[in-house]
Amino acid sequence: MRIDIITVSPELIKSPFEFSIIKRAIDKNLVEVYFHDLREYALNEYGKIDDYQFGGGAGMVLMIEPIDKCISKLKGERTYDEIIYMTPDAPTLNQQTANTLSLNENMIILCGHYKGVDQRVRELLITKEISIGDYVLSGGELGAAVLCDTIIRLIPGVLGDETSALTDSFQDDLLSPPVYTRPSEYNDLKVPKVLLSGNFPKIEEWRNEQAFERTKKIRPDLLED
Ligand code: ADE
Repeated sequence: MRIDIITVSPELIKSPFEFSIIKRAIDKNLVEVYFHDLREYALNEYGKIDDYQFGGGAGMVLMIEPIDKCISKLKGERTYDEIIYMTPDAPTLNQQTANTLSLNENMIILCGHYKGVDQRVRELLITKEISIGDYVLSGGELGAAVLCDTIIRLIPGVLGDETSALTDSFQDDLLSPPVYTRPSEYNDLKVPKVLLSGNFPKIEEWRNEQAFERTKKIRPDLLED
């Protein structure tokens, strides 16, 4: 998989790719991630990439020309499965979307900034819009990092068997059951007996029950379908 991220703040988004599971995925060549500074496609030598909105109103809007130049250059080099725009006014990211996107070869992610992008970018260039939640961030960079993390960990070979993504919360529309490690007793709190029993069918049954009960209590909306 290859991911090209277009941003006005490359330094802001780089560090999540430099640690832990995501770094190892990059080191193992399971994914390539490239950062493109939108200012390199600016309209003039002063780095102009945004302007006031027509009709008045606070906040600058990213212009279509620099974005089009950058995306056209990338599209001239390879075919992209999706060109994604990170924005709060879009469908919310969930595990199903991450699963689907993890099957793609090449993706571009455009990070919004300031007041967003000229609407014509969204109509002409973007194939999918994603929000990471019902709140407004200062830009799309943190959202893009979240999206990339959730996609990259699903690429075969990125997680070992022991951390398989198939047992993650949400993969079966349920939250994960609780987990415990040593010591088996801490102050008055004991690890549930069944987990120490060695009876694996019983343990599986207990985990399924716990996952269901937790979901019912914390996220009943997940059970509605
Ligand atoms: N940019 C600003 N807020 C955002 C959000 N909630 N999700 C994705 N991109 C954003």
